[in-house]
Amino acid sequence: MTVPVCSTGHENRWPAEPVALELWHAGLALKGCSDHYETPLADLQGLYQDTAAFELLAEAAGDSPAYWVDASKVDQHSGGLIIGLSVLQPGSVGAEFFMTRGHLHALADRAELYYCLAGTGVMLMDTVEGESRAVPLIPGSGVHVPGNWVHRSVNVGATPLTTLFCYPVDAGQDYGLVRRAGGMRQLIVADHQRGWRAVPNPGHRGYLGVG
Ligand code: NI
Repeated sequence: MTVPVCSTGHENRWPAEPVALELWHAGLALKGCSDHYETPLADLQGLYQDTAAFELLAEAAGDSPAYWVDASKVDQHSGGLIIGLSVLQPGSVGAEFFMTRGHLHALADRAELYYCLAGTGVMLMDTVEGESRAVPLIPGSGVHVPGNWVHRSVNVGATPLTTLFCYPVDAGQDYGLVRRAGGMRQLIVADHQRGWRAVPNPGHRGYLGVG
C-alpha cells in the first residue's frame, strides 16, 4: 500500500491552515495527514501473555506494521485537536487478539473520540481506581472516551479495524503506566460462540502504586 506523504507544509503557521482530509486506499490511509507512524509487532514485546507465540509471530512479521496511524497535527496551539486514522491489522497472539499498546493520556483528564469506519473491534478501558469497560466497535459506532480512562483498541475481526480519532493536542500519552501495571485489567480473547470475550488479566498488578 502506498501511504500519502504526511506533510502539508503548513505546520508552523498561526492560525493553522485548514486541512482537507480524505480517506484513501479503501480507508486504509488518510490524505492530508501531517504525521505517520507504524508499529511492528516486534515493538509490542511484553504486551501479550503468550510470549512464545509472540516471538514466533514477531519474527515472521518483520517490519510489517501491526498497526499504523495517519494524523493531522497542524494545530499545535492550546485548544488544538489531533485528528487521525488508526488502522489495526487482524490477528491474534495465542488467545489474545491484536491490540494497540494502550495508554492513559499524559494529561489524564483529556478525552478522546474513536469512531469506527471499518472492521470489528473493542475499545477496552480502565480507570486506575478499578473500573473496566469493553465497548464493541462496528462501522458507524464510536466511543467517547472521557478523561481519566486508560484505553486501547482491539481488533476482534478478520479484516483491518480502522477508526477515526480526535483528541486535544496537549493530551500526550503515558504508555509506562500500563507497562508497569502488567497490562490492562482485562484481556480480549477469542470465544467460539460470541466471537470475543473479556477475561481478567492474570498479570495485572493494579495501577495505583505503580507510578
Ligand atoms: Ni488516547
